[in-house]
Amino acid sequence: MISVILADRQLWKKMDGGSEGSGIWIEFIQSATKFILIALAVFLVSGLGLLYSNNWVHVNQPWFILKSACFILFTVNGALVGGNTVTFVDKQLREKNYNMDVLTKAKTRMGRFHIIQLILVAAIIFLGTFKPSFG
Ligand code: HEM
Repeated sequence: MISVILADRQLWKKMDGGSEGSGIWIEFIQSATKFILIALAVFLVSGLGLLYSNNWVHVNQPWFILKSACFILFTVNGALVGGNTVTFVDKQLREKNYNMDVLTKAKTRMGRFHIIQLILVAAIIFLGTFKPSFG
C-alpha cells in the first residue's frame, strides 16, 4: 500500500515534468495492486481460520462487525475508486493529447483515496488489536 502511494507520487511528479516516464509508474501501481489483492485474500482466509478456531464467538461482537465493515469498505473502495482511477489515468496517458484538467481531478481523487484507505487500515488494526467492547 505504501509502495502504491509512493509510486502515485512519483507518477504525478513525472506528469508535472511532461508525462515522460510516467507509464512505468502506472505499470508499477497496477502490479503492486495485485499484491494488495493477494494480501487481502490471505487476511480473509487467516481471519476465517481465527474465527473458526474460536468457535465463531467473535462474529456477533461489535469490534468484529466494525472491522468486517472496514475490510469490505477497503476492498470495495480499492476496486471501484482506486482501480477505476488508475485505469482512467492509464487510458488518458496513452492518448496523445490528454486533458490536464481531467488528470488533475484524478490526482486529487487519488490523494483522497489513499487517505481513506490508510484510515480504514488503521481502524482495522486498532479494532483487531484492542477489540473494544463499546460498553
Ligand atoms: C486488512 C486486513 C486485516 C488486518 C490488517 C487484520 C489485523 C488484525 C490484528 C492486528 C489482529 C490482532 C491480533 C492479536 O490480537 O493477536 C486481528 C485479530 C483478528 N482478526 Fe484480523 N485483520 C484483517 C482482516 C481480517 C478478516 C478479513 C477477518 C475475518 C474474516 C479477521 C479476523 C480476525 C479475528 C477473528 C481476530 C481475533 C483473533 C483473536 O484474538 O481471537 N481479520 N486482526
